[in-house]
Amino acid sequence: MANNQRPADMARITTPALAKAFIEEQVTALRAQIGDGKVLLALSGGVDSSVVAALLIRAVGKQLISVHVNHGLLRKGEPEQVIRVFRDELHGELIYVDAVDRFLDKLAGVADPEKKRKIIGKEFIDVFAEEAEKLSGIRFLAQGTIYPDILESGPVKSHHNVGGLPESLNFELVEPLKFLFKDEVRVVGKELGLPESMVERQPFPGPGLGVRCVGAITRDRLEAVRESDAILREEFANAGLSGKVWQYFTIVPDFKSTGVRDGQRSYDWPVVLRAVNTRDAMTATIEPIPYDLLAKITDRITHEVPGVNRVLYDITPKPTGTIEWE
Ligand code: XMP
Repeated sequence: MANNQRPADMARITTPALAKAFIEEQVTALRAQIGDGKVLLALSGGVDSSVVAALLIRAVGKQLISVHVNHGLLRKGEPEQVIRVFRDELHGELIYVDAVDRFLDKLAGVADPEKKRKIIGKEFIDVFAEEAEKLSGIRFLAQGTIYPDILESGPVKSHHNVGGLPESLNFELVEPLKFLFKDEVRVVGKELGLPESMVERQPFPGPGLGVRCVGAITRDRLEAVRESDAILREEFANAGLSGKVWQYFTIVPDFKSTGVRDGQRSYDWPVVLRAVNTRDAMTATIEPIPYDLLAKITDRITHEVPGVNRVLYDITPKPTGTIEWE
């Protein structure tokens, strides 16, 4: 049984110097554990898996093989950033799998949120296992498990974080962040030289934009989610809100309403904005976005995102709403 208790004397990692010491300690421990073995990692590009990848590259270089699966539900620019950082800058061994068509074909016509989650989770494991089987001599599987994952109690939805693999593959686990809290992971990530935009990223659900393209996902509506999300993030960054608001994103429901554009009647989707603050995601309050900023975001989304003619702001706290719409 693995020890899953954070050591009582472990200092909270709050400064670059403490992060440096943690990194040095882990590099030694990882080298001792891994020897000349090979390690596999599902690299989503989220904070935890990115920090694990950077740490393992520091410790064992190209003995780490990271697999980045693009399931088509990632935010704008994310796969490109993962490739740039881990392949071009850190010179890691990275397998990029373009599985967009495969996921979207499987999801076509599926409207039930939990069925969508299950399909995304299962497909992810299948794609990852297929990649793992193509490789030989892999003994270890690295995971971005952090301390709250160990402590967490039963969630409301089936929150399977992507990355779980069939036990039959028989890997030995490598979990260098398992005693760290999120803020500590960020400090370590910065010390490892990861870009601010990666280390300070807001939480992003495993099923990605799939749960924000409400109901049955279509490619054009999914693009409306991705483009409106990119605009929202850009405007939040310009307004200095990025690091201050816990989670902010857009949703595109599966209905249309009438509007006018260039003197013609339009019949298009609305985009819903959501910006919430929370400590533990069990309850959440609403970020009061300044009115001018709301107006600017609305103007940009309605003019720049094809198929959208309205913007709504969801001011429902959790409870009664959940943070995501599905
Ligand atoms: P809800 O919508 O339940 O979300 O208020 C709470 C937090 O969990 C995230 N979330 C998920 N994360 N897989 C994940 O890894 C999921 O299926 C999933 N659903 C919701 C959500 O973004 C929020 O941060």
